[in-house]
Amino acid sequence: MKAMTRRTYGEADVLESSIVDPPAVADDEVLIEVRAAAVDPGVWIFMTGRPWAVRLASGIRRPRIPILGLDVAGVISAVGARITRFRAGDEVYGTCRSGSFAEFATARETQLAIKPSGISFAQAAATPVSGVTALTSIRTAGVRPGHHVLITGAGGGVGSFAVQLAKARGATVTGVCSTSKADLVRSLGADAVIDYTAEEIDKDGAVYDVILDLAGSRPLSLLRRAAKPRATIALVGGGHTKGRVMGGFHRQMAAPLIAPFLSQKLKGVTSFVRVPELEELTRHIESGTLTPTVGATYPLAEAAEALRDHTTSRSPGKIAITVP
Ligand SMILES: NC(=O)c1ccc[n+]([C@@H]2O[C@H](COP(=O)([O-])OP(=O)(O)OC[C@H]3O[C@@H](n4cnc5c(N)ncnc54)[C@H](OP(=O)(O)O)[C@@H]3O)[C@@H](O)[C@H]2O)c1
Repeated sequence: MKAMTRRTYGEADVLESSIVDPPAVADDEVLIEVRAAAVDPGVWIFMTGRPWAVRLASGIRRPRIPILGLDVAGVISAVGARITRFRAGDEVYGTCRSGSFAEFATARETQLAIKPSGISFAQAAATPVSGVTALTSIRTAGVRPGHHVLITGAGGGVGSFAVQLAKARGATVTGVCSTSKADLVRSLGADAVIDYTAEEIDKDGAVYDVILDLAGSRPLSLLRRAAKPRATIALVGGGHTKGRVMGGFHRQMAAPLIAPFLSQKLKGVTSFVRVPELEELTRHIESGTLTPTVGATYPLAEAAEALRDHTTSRSPGKIAITVP
């Protein structure tokens, strides 16, 4: 099969077009004919091997899995002996194990759901990692009707889902993004937009009931100044390009240690793609309260350019890769 592979850690230039054997299917896996994959910061982290902590899982000196890509949407072409929920021909979306920047990928059925109707494979592939992270963040922060919610990184992958899901919960949403993404964030339903290149997030004082910090690029002291005294601040993004060892994710890990000393609730968010979350996203998509935002689409052979687009934050929402 065709796949984009890499032999070493590095920037997007390490990706090369290869012909490799399709992955073997274990008893608890399905084989998916990939129609689309997607890019997110996790792909960049596994591609570069930075922060270094990730190499404990992915290989210290060189990557153990040559193919990148977690998000996947496609058609099941074979099922393992213990699979009960799916059969060949089912259109599915979720996350895969063997790498989705390829014509075929394997996945556990516990990380897959039937693809929502009415959206493209590219939109379906854009949804699992970012949509589940947005859903988990909103649940963790306890967003309720009437809450005023501030979302940093609102024009990015997770943010484009979080704005819509917070609106669907009846919140008033202020999205924080750069100038070029402001129109998108408004179109997703945000009631107000703060262009962080021109204004700071505490410009209106301590007015937010909930802050979802997806961008991870503002100090906690600033987030706290924008939050009401009893507000919840959910730390989701770590500013993954910062810090060689932990890449900024120390903020989530430190949250439980700092939280007891603050009047505001401080919560670190960790998300996992599982069936209940995927099925909740499917319900939102099929009822019209959520539309996955694909800001750019690249063919498989141009996966390196998709990574460069993501690294420079050129396109809003998610970047999809279509296969073949
Ligand atoms: N905790 C978890 O389980 C989990 C799971 C998935 C992802 N994450 C993390 O969540 C973060 C967001 O992921 P993503 O997929 O949405 O990444 P993304 O698509 O790269 O989006 C990040 C957004 O942040 C914006 N941004 C940068 N600086 C900003 C600032 N100062 N204020 C507001 N926005 C700013 C960027 O664009 P503009 O600057 O152009 O607006 C971009 O749109 C990443 O750090 C990722 O590693 C965490």
